Amino acid sequence: MAQITPLIAGNWKMNGTTVQLGEVERLAELVTEGDGPRCTVVICPPATMLERLNTITASAGIVTGGQDCHPAAHGPHTGDISAQMLSDCGAQYVIVGHSERRLGHGETDHLVQQKALAAFASGLVPIICVGESEDERESGSAEKVVLGQLAEALPDNWGPFGFIVAYEPVWAIGTGKTPTMHDIEDMHATIRKYLVEHYGENGEGTRILYGGSMKPYNARDILRLKNVNGGLVGGASLLANDFYNIISAV
Ligand code: 13P
Repeated sequence: MAQITPLIAGNWKMNGTTVQLGEVERLAELVTEGDGPRCTVVICPPATMLERLNTITASAGIVTGGQDCHPAAHGPHTGDISAQMLSDCGAQYVIVGHSERRLGHGETDHLVQQKALAAFASGLVPIICVGESEDERESGSAEKVVLGQLAEALPDNWGPFGFIVAYEPVWAIGTGKTPTMHDIEDMHATIRKYLVEHYGENGEGTRILYGGSMKPYNARDILRLKNVNGGLVGGASLLANDFYNIISAV
């Protein structure tokens, strides 16, 4: 059984201006005050804040990531940002295929795969998101939907530094609702089986994160489940104390 270092990533989404740096300073203090986290800690702020965050977080061992990238390295794509640019700002990770991009920007699994490959090419680790809608969960097709997303969105190879899968049921994002612990464990087992079948030993060591209303009060229960190797945290990552409590739950 491969030993996996858990990872807790904060996805700030479209939140965060200069005032938010105070929370980051507080988080860096909290993280360095104790014995240090038992997990890798990543913050994915808006790209406008990446460099400023890095200057605060580096000494606390907290690393940063982007929230999306274009599949191309550069070119005529007004408003987009490339993996290379994120890397140039000090990012080490990039979220791709978040449901808010899939739903709000019509992103397909194929595009998500292209973005993951762009991340590889720039030395970033892609955090590839999958997850079913509420209708899909209720109609009993959640597993089929997620397996379909894995088949289309994951790269054929594990990549130079690997990739991370984040299971985020769409209906659990920002709603305060979560699947039962049993359902989370089942889905993570399904994802693990897929990863091992397709990537062998690397699949055994691939982190599978849970995301969707992860909060200080439920993090401990979720993070102790089999094949849950960390979390992708939205709202609760904006407040230093809440995010630190989730990090400490590992
Ligand atoms: P919440 O934690 O706010 O539900 O968001 C989850 C998420 O979308 C992380 O990517």
